[in-house]
Amino acid sequence: MDRSPRQTWDARYRERGIVPGPPAPWLAENRDLLAGTRALDLACGIGRNARFLAGLGFAVDALDVSEVAIAALRGTPGVTARVADLEHQPLPAEPYDVIVIIDYLQRDLFAAAPAALRPGGVIVAETVTRAHVERLGRRFDRRFLLEPGELREAFAGLEVLRSAEGIVSRGDRPRAVASIVARRSS
Ligand SMILES: C[S@@+](CC[C@H](N)C(=O)[O-])C[C@H]1O[C@@H](n2cnc3c(N)ncnc32)[C@H](O)[C@@H]1O
Repeated sequence: MDRSPRQTWDARYRERGIVPGPPAPWLAENRDLLAGTRALDLACGIGRNARFLAGLGFAVDALDVSEVAIAALRGTPGVTARVADLEHQPLPAEPYDVIVIIDYLQRDLFAAAPAALRPGGVIVAETVTRAHVERLGRRFDRRFLLEPGELREAFAGLEVLRSAEGIVSRGDRPRAVASIVARRSS
């Protein structure tokens, strides 16, 4: 029987242990583009990015389907962590200055996330592309791989401030990713 995303991720976090690492490099590298007071971290996991944003002074809402991940993040200063299944629950109604979607692909968020931005707010997104399997030979569920150029196209209604697509090697194993920082017009 197939497990739900919650069961799958709860089990993964229990196996791996809960030790949040440093923030995603794409987020840290683009900190100069982050301004404002409120941030939303979608599919936040155990919170490496939410903690980083809180450290920059943002009040962060962090959502994830995994109870285990959210339990680990609760109580972190500056972070309001909540269990939410993004496939079945709408995004919070309040507008955000920064929305982060890192290492998570749910295509209907490409429309929903910009709508949750304040004018002038930015989306910071990055996840793996088809090249991860086709060029690097890695195993990955193909449903969760971006097509070439897809991320830029997905946020075509926003002003693209920075974007990249290719193989990155940032101290860990090489990964094929597409990355973007895009702003809602003011
Ligand atoms: C690869 S992890 C990335 C975590 C985090 N964004 C990061 O960069 O460290 C993917 C996350 O997506 C979450 N997830 C999977 N399906 C989800 C859903 N339907 N709603 C919310 N979160 C989900 C998992 O629990 C997991 O924490």
